[in-house]
Amino acid sequence: MYSSSELMQMVNNTIMMLPYDRKPFALYDPIKYVLSLGGKRLRPVLMLMAYNMYRDDVESILMPAVAIETYHNFTLLHDDLMDRSDVRRGKPCVHKKWNENAAILSGDNMLVLAFYRMLQCDEKYMPAVLRLFTETALEIDEGQQYDIDFESRSDVTEAEYIEMIRLKTSVLLACALKIGAILGGASDQDAEALYEFGEKLGLAFQLQDDYLDVYGDFKTFGKQIGGDIMCNKKTYMLINAHLLANEEQARELHSWLNKENPLREEKVAAVTRLYNEIGVPELVSNKINQYYLEAAQALLRVSLPQERTAVLWDYAQSMLNRKS
Ligand code: IPE
Ligand code: IPE
Ligand code: MG
Ligand code: MG
Ligand code: MG
Repeated sequence: MYSSSELMQMVNNTIMMLPYDRKPFALYDPIKYVLSLGGKRLRPVLMLMAYNMYRDDVESILMPAVAIETYHNFTLLHDDLMDRSDVRRGKPCVHKKWNENAAILSGDNMLVLAFYRMLQCDEKYMPAVLRLFTETALEIDEGQQYDIDFESRSDVTEAEYIEMIRLKTSVLLACALKIGAILGGASDQDAEALYEFGEKLGLAFQLQDDYLDVYGDFKTFGKQIGGDIMCNKKTYMLINAHLLANEEQARELHSWLNKENPLREEKVAAVTRLYNEIGVPELVSNKINQYYLEAAQALLRVSLPQERTAVLWDYAQSMLNRKS
């Protein structure tokens, strides 16, 4: 079986070799740019790993793997515009390096390219793969809409937050794994267990992303710290800070959330201090561990010997302490 770094290398090589023989350059240059900036390549690696649990010839599904990464990168172009984020993977976002129209149209083009690339899979499995991919894409938009709606609401519950991140983030990890399983000829039960594994892993992954948005290091995380605080994103951290704050902390939190045009450094520092006082980091870490346990349980339902699933579990574990 291939290691995660070997799979990532295969994904990166395939991305590098992609032919861009269409014009105009102004449409395709931002696409080449964002796909060349690296990133963890988590979703294609998960797809290849799931496939590799059943079959050896992973090179035969490199195009669907690149399709899922293309789709992911499309969401990032639009997400950065929506979240007013200017830096990703340590480099200027497409709407900054080019302009907002480039992020919109090159993003749209990537969405179509993703489906175009996904079509290059075994015809036998194509209907199942496309049904899943299409449903997933709809769900991600739904999650993104909730994420934006929640910015201006103050009564978002933890359950609503979890459902929102399940939609915007988890389902793509789950979809990547399930497509890998489907193409590898796995049973329906195995494909479903891997989907659920991806869902739980995705919840932990987004909780960690939200944590790093506050506590990460700009250089390694590659995104500006405090973006979620500036947008009043209703993260697990903010929701629980509200619930657990004493009267004075609640008043202070409330005033920062409602302040017009706050200074970035001041608001981020103040909200981070409140999180620390309230004990939010420990809460997040417990919640992440809970989802890892649930992910492990789902993986146990896969009807393969443990040595076939170990690579996937080790890879998921390596995500647990990620800094980027
Ligand atoms: C960023 O995804 C968007 C989220 C769902 C948190 P990644 O953290 O996988 O980003 P890259 O692809 O590695 O840059
Ligand atoms: C990511 O949510 C969800 C999607 C891109 C669909 P975030 O907004 O937290 O992702 P980052 O932090 O910008 O990567
Ligand atoms: Mg977002
Ligand atoms: Mg964002
Ligand atoms: Mg984030």
